[in-house]
Amino acid sequence: MTEQAQISLLERYRRLAEISRNLASTVDLDILLDRITEAAAHVSGSEAASILLYDESQGQLYFESATNLDEPLMQGLIVPVEDSIAGWIITNGQPIIIDDTQNDPRHFAQVGKATHVTTNSLLGIPLIAKDKVIGALEAINKLSGQFTQDDQEILMDLGSQAAVAIENARLFQQSDLIAEMVHELRTPLASLRTASHLLLRKDVSEEQMRKVVEIIDNETTRLIDMTTSFLDLARLESGRIPFNSEVFDPGALLQECVGLMQNKAAEKNLRLNLYIPNELPEIKGDQDKIKQVVLNLISNAVNYNKPSGTITVSGHSHPNELVISVNDTGSGIRQADITHLFDKFYRSQATENSVQGTGLGLAICKQIVEAHNGRIEVQSEVGIGTTFSVHLPLKKS
Ligand SMILES: Nc1ncnc2c1ncn2[C@@H]1O[C@H](COP(=O)(O)OP(=O)(O)OP(=O)(O)O)[C@@H](O)[C@H]1O
Ligand SMILES: [Mg+2]
Repeated sequence: MTEQAQISLLERYRRLAEISRNLASTVDLDILLDRITEAAAHVSGSEAASILLYDESQGQLYFESATNLDEPLMQGLIVPVEDSIAGWIITNGQPIIIDDTQNDPRHFAQVGKATHVTTNSLLGIPLIAKDKVIGALEAINKLSGQFTQDDQEILMDLGSQAAVAIENARLFQQSDLIAEMVHELRTPLASLRTASHLLLRKDVSEEQMRKVVEIIDNETTRLIDMTTSFLDLARLESGRIPFNSEVFDPGALLQECVGLMQNKAAEKNLRLNLYIPNELPEIKGDQDKIKQVVLNLISNAVNYNKPSGTITVSGHSHPNELVISVNDTGSGIRQADITHLFDKFYRSQATENSVQGTGLGLAICKQIVEAHNGRIEVQSEVGIGTTFSVHLPLKKS
């Protein structure tokens, strides 16, 4: 081994030690996975690295993080266990070095086609936690020369620590979310029990009975809405739902959303307006999910408006992005609340008692928008109103 290579190996191990300390303290799964792939590319001296996690129930591997792919592209990438190198790693629980991936029969070419990334050399290792293979970590395209045993060893070292950190982050995430969800279910369940107790009494009048049934109807609807939101968020957070990637006309989408919400606004005596230019550029993404975002924002603008208020939905195009905004003439949001607005289950005290909700709507919106490489922003003035704006990158022609 040359002196040069030795120093760099030493330097790589020093870097690994630094990363390990960092990984152990990261409980946010997304951030953790990104750090692992970045570290993997670095310590193995390769062009890019990715993590695929294994879903046993589906028998498939999902791309969870990659240094060279963006989120929407990754969401749709599913790799079969058979006929893929990652699948081979999972099944055999062994590392692998391939010098010429293009000519390897196990190479799953579809990913390369979808991502326009050519894989030449590859070093892959299994991620093993508690004796179970949970996924594969792959580094591709060694920057100089071919992958060596040294590269494999250092990546195995990183992988063993990464696997433990992933398991911990998953447990943390689940316990956190499940505890909060169960807590939220208690209130409607308690009202349902009170209602059924009342119905069991012999001395309830016909009129009281009707009221109780109305309560039951209302609370069950609320439970259904809540469980739908829980599931949506849990799926989004796990990164397991594939996003469609289709080209669509955002103007038509906004029109549809406004049409769907018109009755709800009218019921509350609110005006709901739409402003869009004659032509908006097409965007690429998951139409249904963007629709969910817009409907959520309009629904908030309806719920948190003032009597006889107005809601204005508009679309604008800028050189690199499309901006969808939803403005209302409601109570506005205090600065102290704005900082937590997109947190799960957060509801401001100002509205908590007057409007029913779970506090998940905006958290779901944020997940969806960020999965499209966009961002969601809010501007608000207390007593005047609020504007939410969704910025989505335009598809490059
Ligand atoms: N347009 C708005 N004007 C004023 N306050 C708002 C507005 N939109 C959201 N908020 C505040 O932010 C909180 C969180 O909104 P979010 O949509 O996440 O949850 P929610 O509306 O309470 O419940 P749900 O999960 O049913 O949507 C709301 O409870 C409300 O206090
Ligand atoms: Mg809401």
